[in-house]
Amino acid sequence: MGLSEVSIAENADILDVGCGGGANIARLLSRAPKGTVTGIDYSSVSVKKSCEVNAKAIAAGRCHVVEGSADALPFDEYSFDLVTAFETVYFWPEIEKCFAGVRRTLKDGGHFVIVNEDDGLSGNNEKWEKMIDGLHTYTPDELRTHLTAAGFHDIAVRRDEQRHWLCVMVEK
Ligand SMILES: C[S@@+](CC[C@H](N)C(=O)[O-])C[C@H]1O[C@@H](n2cnc3c(N)ncnc32)[C@H](O)[C@@H]1O
Repeated sequence: MGLSEVSIAENADILDVGCGGGANIARLLSRAPKGTVTGIDYSSVSVKKSCEVNAKAIAAGRCHVVEGSADALPFDEYSFDLVTAFETVYFWPEIEKCFAGVRRTLKDGGHFVIVNEDDGLSGNNEKWEKMIDGLHTYTPDELRTHLTAAGFHDIAVRRDEQRHWLCVMVEK
């Protein structure tokens, strides 16, 4: 469940928010061989690692990685065909502001995809929330509510009920 769920044009312009060590940037680059992938993460360690992992694509001008936060995306309106968020929205502050910012950066008809390996319904969420300060494991309904408040419609939710994985897709 995740990237395989998403159809990606070969020339797509993609943003991966909370890109971590850049493994998904590399996957996205191979899914859009004539496109571009931008990564953003608020951790300088993650940005450095993402740059190392994707050095060739950066040298070729197909990849950019910037340090910054999901609640203040430093990109123009209508920049991206696809915005992805893997295993990261749990940590975002002011989630509706973040989602509205994602929507602003999407082109009309562009997609936002959230992949969480915890759907908030596993019974483990309280344990995680106590262990990791600031973490919130969103249920599908909570994500629907916040995405709707941020201006998204037609919210598609896919769940792996056994593993409690969640993939949410919306179109601008
Ligand atoms: C669990 S890691 C997932 C990394 C990567 N997306 C992956 O799936 O391998 C969460 C990432 O989200 C980043 N992150 C958390 N809050 C963020 C925020 N407000 N803005 C940008 N990045 C954030 C963290 O620095 C971390 O790299």
